[in-house]
Amino acid sequence: NKDLYHEKHRPNYHFSPPKAWMNDPNGLFFYKGEYHLFYQHFPDQSVWGPMHWGHAISKNLTHWENLPIALYPDSLGYIFSGSAVVDWNNTSGFGKNNQPPLIAIFTYHNMAAEKAGKNDFESQGIAYSNDKGRTWTKYANNPVIKNQGVRDFRDPKVSWDEARKQWVMALAVQDHHEFWVSKNLKDWSKSGSFGKEWGNHGGVWECADLFPLKDGKITKWVLIVNINPGALNGGSGTQYFIGEFDGKTFVLDESFKPSVMNGNGVWLDYGKDNYAGVTWSDIPKTDGRRILIGWMSNWQYANIVPTTQWRSATTLPRELTLKATSQGYRLASTPVKELQSLRNLAKKPLQVSNVTIKDSLDLNTKLGFVPTLSEVELSFEKPKTNDIVNIEISNAKGEKYIIGYNSEKNTFFSDRTKSGKVDFSNDFAAKIHIAPRLSDSNIIKMHLFFDVSSAELFADDGTTVMTEIFFPNEDYTKMNIKTSGAPIKVKSLKVWNLKRSWK
Ligand code: FRU
Repeated sequence: NKDLYHEKHRPNYHFSPPKAWMNDPNGLFFYKGEYHLFYQHFPDQSVWGPMHWGHAISKNLTHWENLPIALYPDSLGYIFSGSAVVDWNNTSGFGKNNQPPLIAIFTYHNMAAEKAGKNDFESQGIAYSNDKGRTWTKYANNPVIKNQGVRDFRDPKVSWDEARKQWVMALAVQDHHEFWVSKNLKDWSKSGSFGKEWGNHGGVWECADLFPLKDGKITKWVLIVNINPGALNGGSGTQYFIGEFDGKTFVLDESFKPSVMNGNGVWLDYGKDNYAGVTWSDIPKTDGRRILIGWMSNWQYANIVPTTQWRSATTLPRELTLKATSQGYRLASTPVKELQSLRNLAKKPLQVSNVTIKDSLDLNTKLGFVPTLSEVELSFEKPKTNDIVNIEISNAKGEKYIIGYNSEKNTFFSDRTKSGKVDFSNDFAAKIHIAPRLSDSNIIKMHLFFDVSSAELFADDGTTVMTEIFFPNEDYTKMNIKTSGAPIKVKSLKVWNLKRSWK
């Protein structure tokens, strides 16, 4: 089908499903040179429905190959979100021919039981693969964790705890996360819980992740908590906590406590469209990166965004690192380095340094390529007066998307209020979305990726991040940098054209 991946609003270098509905990324693992990406998928319609695990693989995190659906619903229920691991020591006994089995751990959601008014409709099941993830067999004795009498009991994220030779599962349970441990991925016992009294509780806790990160010699554990609703800019969002894992439970760092008291959350991304993000398992130690990918939408409007043949894309994959800041440890997210291979060097990147922008710098005539397939790196001196710096992309219809920095408030912002189709939902463009600046450097850095219908901002080396989608009636063709106060001093500006990653 020659139109596939060329539909209106279809991202050109983000992953999106070939057709129909997608939500959360699932089962992320790396094995034999392949990054696996599964995802919540309803293959029959472009709205949420009976959940399957769709499947794609990539060798470089930029080009994706679609594979057949990996997991179908069965008599125990729909296949909700979860994770996958390489069982290197064959603890599960599912291995064959001396090859480690691949194990997927997911939630069964029994719709019939839910409709009948029961509370015990979510449980955890597993499936295994002996052929590099191409086919999956569900375990005959599923579920491996029965429901414990609570409605929201889902999204298991499993990892191998080398220090204690055990599997650890972080599981989202209504208003907290639980931890379960196992020696063989089949028999599990609950070892701890965290979260009732910390962080944001504006909605249900979903999609957990738990992993260590190093800052020099110091190791900290990160607990990811997706929450819907309750996010700072509305709807679904991702908060996180920093602390320790003691083999049984997550223990919050003293220094992190003040930031997550009284209902406050610490957010991974301040845009409205990065949800259900989780990280890849089994990335080799020689690489050592912790890479997260999210679902680039929001439950407030995911089902009604103006695309028809498919709905939703993933975010760009981001590397997570620990950053010591004046407020204690924080996560920084930066686009994975593989994305540099998308730069189209056949078109000259725009490059200027040490210029002053007064009112406006029109990049249209200078660019020679469309702004909606571009990467921008802008750094400028922090204005001493009240300034608003806008990076604006727009079309001939006067529709525009603006992302920028407000020096009076010391915030970044994303403004899609006039970006095109906005009235499909009251929650989509009612407000300008705001992100606090964390860095106290005198140089403001904005690293941006524009695809056909999305913008991702990695500001100040990833310490402030915003991900947002938009739907112009016509593709944006113009790019401008505008300032509203005194002239700003640009240290450096680079704009690359990016290549499509789909044929
Ligand atoms: C998060 C979520 C998960 C659930 C899945 C269902 O977006 O609600 O908690 O497993 O989506 O599709």
